[in-house]
Amino acid sequence: MSLKLTKLVVFLLFTQALTAGEGMWLPLLLESLNENEMKNMGLKLSAEDIYSVNQSSLKDAIVHFGGFCTAEVISNKGLLLTNHHCGYGQIQSHTTLENNYLRDGFWAMEQDQELANPGLFARFILRMEDVSDDMLAGVNDNMTSAERQSTIDKNMDMVRAKHEQGLEAYDDIIIRPFYHGNEYYMFVTRTFNDVRLVGAPPESIGKYGSDTDNWVWPRHTGDFAMFRIYAGPDNLPADYSPDNKPYVPKHSLPISVDGVEEGDFTLVFGFPGRTNEYLPSPAIEQIVDVLNPAKIKIRETALDIIDKYMRIDPAVKIQYASKFARVANYWKKWIGESQGIKSTDGIGKKIKMEEEFTNRINKNYDQKAKYAKLLPEFKKLYEDIEPYALSRDMYNEVVSRNVEILRAAGLANRLVTALENNGVEGYNNMKGRLTAGYYDSFYKNYRPEIDQEVFAALMELYKKNAPFKGLTSPLDKLAGTKDGMGDYAAVAKKLYGETFFTKQAEFEKVMQMKPKEVVAKIKADPLYMFTQDMNAAYNDIVEGKYNSYNDRIKEMQRTYMKALMEVFPEKRMYPDANSTMRVTYGKVNGYTPRDAVYYTPVTYLDGAMAKYKPGDYEFDMPKKLIELYDKKDYGRYADTKNGKMPICFIGTNHTTGGNSGSPAIDANGNLIGLNFDRAWEGTMSDYNYDPSICRNIMVDARYILFIVDKFAGAKRLIYEMNLVNPKKMAEAAHTPPIIDKGSKKKKKKAKMK
Ligand code: ARG
Ligand code: GLU
Repeated sequence: MSLKLTKLVVFLLFTQALTAGEGMWLPLLLESLNENEMKNMGLKLSAEDIYSVNQSSLKDAIVHFGGFCTAEVISNKGLLLTNHHCGYGQIQSHTTLENNYLRDGFWAMEQDQELANPGLFARFILRMEDVSDDMLAGVNDNMTSAERQSTIDKNMDMVRAKHEQGLEAYDDIIIRPFYHGNEYYMFVTRTFNDVRLVGAPPESIGKYGSDTDNWVWPRHTGDFAMFRIYAGPDNLPADYSPDNKPYVPKHSLPISVDGVEEGDFTLVFGFPGRTNEYLPSPAIEQIVDVLNPAKIKIRETALDIIDKYMRIDPAVKIQYASKFARVANYWKKWIGESQGIKSTDGIGKKIKMEEEFTNRINKNYDQKAKYAKLLPEFKKLYEDIEPYALSRDMYNEVVSRNVEILRAAGLANRLVTALENNGVEGYNNMKGRLTAGYYDSFYKNYRPEIDQEVFAALMELYKKNAPFKGLTSPLDKLAGTKDGMGDYAAVAKKLYGETFFTKQAEFEKVMQMKPKEVVAKIKADPLYMFTQDMNAAYNDIVEGKYNSYNDRIKEMQRTYMKALMEVFPEKRMYPDANSTMRVTYGKVNGYTPRDAVYYTPVTYLDGAMAKYKPGDYEFDMPKKLIELYDKKDYGRYADTKNGKMPICFIGTNHTTGGNSGSPAIDANGNLIGLNFDRAWEGTMSDYNYDPSICRNIMVDARYILFIVDKFAGAKRLIYEMNLVNPKKMAEAAHTPPIIDKGSKKKKKKAKMK
């Protein structure tokens, strides 16, 4: 009996390890924390093969792409693979009506056709180091948070000075807090600034399914693009020059053409942006019950109005496509996030864990003294901060983001302060930056009649739901109301009619005037005044209070993190994402999104064809792709078992925003896919990873190769890559050779022919 029980326990432990996917791990700690588990899950490499300072390793093929995405080197000529949505800005910047690279795709058939992208960088990590001791020297628990911060700032200067010695101009040091400030790590980086566009499929492949399919599994998007790193004559970083040469990397990822199957090991390497896995339950409750619903409602209201106009006017559809996608992206994510936390009882699980925490510290005199106050105090603090946090989110969504003209007029404040603080020179400088960086593209894609309707609808929402009456007092003044609702359509009509900001020609005329006159015009503008008043009301009521509560929460979160690690020593805790390099590993794995439904983990071109809607802006497909499909002309890239062309697959890897463009790597270190999204039901993994529904979505490497080779005909790119057959080789190694004289003869004959 007891023997059986042990067996059961061993079995459970084993299966737990097999499905594990949670965690964004620091590459330099893999050996001590993760190597065993990874090997049990199928990894054939050592931790040293993944991250090493002394020899080339997988990390040498991974770059932070522009600081917002990940990319990887896939040839010994510095070829980079990332997502289409990561390179979107660059592809768009090279797009004109004659050369519509967004619509038709772009392929540099020769190396000299590759296109430069000023401002874009690729950043390698040379090495990383735990600098906690140096950073926290002299810090103790009795300090105020200001004292603590000032000590840390001084330490930071010293650590930097110590490590900066001998670094080249293109190398840098980044120091970041981990575990909410309980530890610090330093990263030595090397940045290349000459990164050129090499290829991108048309949007009907790279963005297939657009917003309808965004965050959704099953998915059929070929979300990839290719760039290339260029270096100076010595293979080191250099500013753009036509004489620069393709960079020869320390490591580039071979690409497997053997594909994936359910259960295969996957490792995702990249730069995840932000997660919050160690929040107390009241924080999660607030997100699910209060903050997300408010933000969702505001965006939904704006999106409904924009969508209505996009449907009737094709010109509006083009003008608003990218804005709509941006607003819709997180609108949809928040809905999935809240639902996922509910469906997996994320809050209930947190509460259980907190009960266990309390039980354990109650048995330990020392821990009880240090930590017993934390949870009750969190509860109180989150109650206190709630109206301020809600006001902050509402203000940001309404005033700073979704009513476009409020942002445009609000930014004009920079011209005012530039002139007042830095004179004409400062003004001119700011004017140049704002026009080129903002106003030019703003007016190109702006429709005042749409925005006016959004203004009226969002002001009504803000008035109805803002936690403090005073926040909308400038609006009440305009509407002539006090407690009741006003006629916000009338307010909008009047404001939009009177301001010069809604009219491009007038705006440009004003900008031609002398700096003093421009500033006078801006200050007298009714819409500008309204933004200033709304901002002042927000600052008076919310800003100070929010910051003081939030500072206290941050301090407590640091202590709570430390407490969790101390009280649950058996749990391996990984640091929250903070845009530093991480590794996550899991398996190719389907899931059950709802009762009676199981999603298998691979999609095929057949599925894309089934969604095909000729002429549609989301589900149109290129003619050439349909021809290839009809002829089943897949080259060597089809699935060997079923002959179909795979497009995407999902796994249990724990990823977040910033992991876009990250490589999915097999047990042997070969590229098998390209991460670009998560499945909707599991987007709550930023707060609460649950292996039952959290899945990342990757483009299958074979689809990428198929599109480059068969669809685009960019053979030269295929030739420079290193395509491998790890599964076939393993099979061959395990199959004893069949010695059969007959067949040998036949082969010889065949060869002779
Ligand atoms: N959901 C993915 C991410 O968070 C892809 C976004 C781009 N695609 C889109 N249809 N908006 O970034
Ligand atoms: N699309 C996201 C990005 O741009 C990745 C998806 C996610 O949030 O996991 O980083």
